[in-house]
Amino acid sequence: MEIIIVPTPTEVGRVAAARVASVVAMKPSAVIGLATGSSPQGLYSDLKRRVQAGDISFVDAHGFALDEYVGISLDHPESYASVITRDVVVPLGFDPARVQVPDGRANDLESAARAYDAAIRASGGIDVQILGIGTNGHIGFNEPTSSFASRTRIKTLAPLTREANARFFDSIEQVPMHCMTQGLGTILEARQLLLVAQGSAKAKAVAAAIEGPLSSFVPGSALQLHQHATVVLDEAAAAELQLADYYRYTYANKPTWQLDQ
Ligand code: GLP
Repeated sequence: MEIIIVPTPTEVGRVAAARVASVVAMKPSAVIGLATGSSPQGLYSDLKRRVQAGDISFVDAHGFALDEYVGISLDHPESYASVITRDVVVPLGFDPARVQVPDGRANDLESAARAYDAAIRASGGIDVQILGIGTNGHIGFNEPTSSFASRTRIKTLAPLTREANARFFDSIEQVPMHCMTQGLGTILEARQLLLVAQGSAKAKAVAAAIEGPLSSFVPGSALQLHQHATVVLDEAAAAELQLADYYRYTYANKPTWQLDQ
């Protein structure tokens, strides 16, 4: 795993965006795994800047969202379908027909979940999966004790997650109880994982995921099983890492041919 510690949240976005940009530059039809939430906002803003400057284009790229609430209407401003359209598809110029979000309104949710995994596979697989991390260590909506082998499926949101996401709704009661999320097994099949985290609230979860034991209790620790996982952190999110100096040292001495890889 590569751990990159940078001074500010803006720098997290810039470094992570450079990674996504390099994937798309090599493969314009790349399949991008898209995360919602606050964490990737800086990354998306930096990508938007690159699109506006004419440096990259997502016109031929494909996108798969990580997760969606169950039972929320498609046009609800906080459905992840709406969020992905607003934060990613429109500003980055994706073709909406090439971007999919799990169907949390399907009558047969289990079939819809299986179909989502099948669609990812049919696309050729995700080239780079963008991830945030919850304060309880979740990635996507894979709450603690999610199986490392799990596929896209229905989960019950942890009370802590509903509390954290209540800021997007008028009250916590309005935060859906269930979600459909790519499984940890699904996420691990992406060719590259790119996790971004900022702020002290994430420091414990980040340290547990990177340096703690491999445990379904900390779903983010699944990154340790991946051969090409990168974590980009600001100083506050890196504050609990025991080997922070070593990560700074390895990044400072990264061979130039390996930068952006
Ligand atoms: C969520 C999302 C995750 C996200 C995480 C952290 O609820 N389903 O994809 O990574 O929580 O959210 P944030 O980035 O807003 O802190």
